[in-house]
Amino acid sequence: MAVQPLIDAARHAASGAYAPYSNFRVGAAILLNDGRIVTGANFENASYGLSLCAETVALAKVANDGLLAAVVEIAVSGGTGPDPVRPCGRCRQVLNEAAQIGGHDIVVHCSSGDGSTIERHMLSALLPHAFGPKDLI
Ligand code: THU
Repeated sequence: MAVQPLIDAARHAASGAYAPYSNFRVGAAILLNDGRIVTGANFENASYGLSLCAETVALAKVANDGLLAAVVEIAVSGGTGPDPVRPCGRCRQVLNEAAQIGGHDIVVHCSSGDGSTIERHMLSALLPHAFGPKDLI
């Protein structure tokens, strides 16, 4: 599948962010192996530390549908500056759950909020030597 529709879905998802504290709106779009796209946006809380990132919200939706193993790519988009948004460490770990359950690496597209700057990474490069389900066997 082309990258642009996934980036567009992430950018559109950012409009659903609940981010009154940071005003930093992030959208995530997950591509499943059947072509479906599942989106999420950051969901903040007055108790700041409870806030959820866009990637985690999107992946929780996928997990609730029993589709963790079907995740192949994710696009993340946010902010108002020129730099692409890259998943935080916690989200990299959350994504690793899908990668290990699925038995394959995940492509991570990182985009600026306006979509003008895009980076392509592999999750294994963003989170090398990851701890995951395979370590609990
Ligand atoms: N955020 C995300 O949703 N994803 C990221 O990859 C980086 C940060 C959110 C968390 C918080 O709501 C806001 O951006 C500012 O950190």
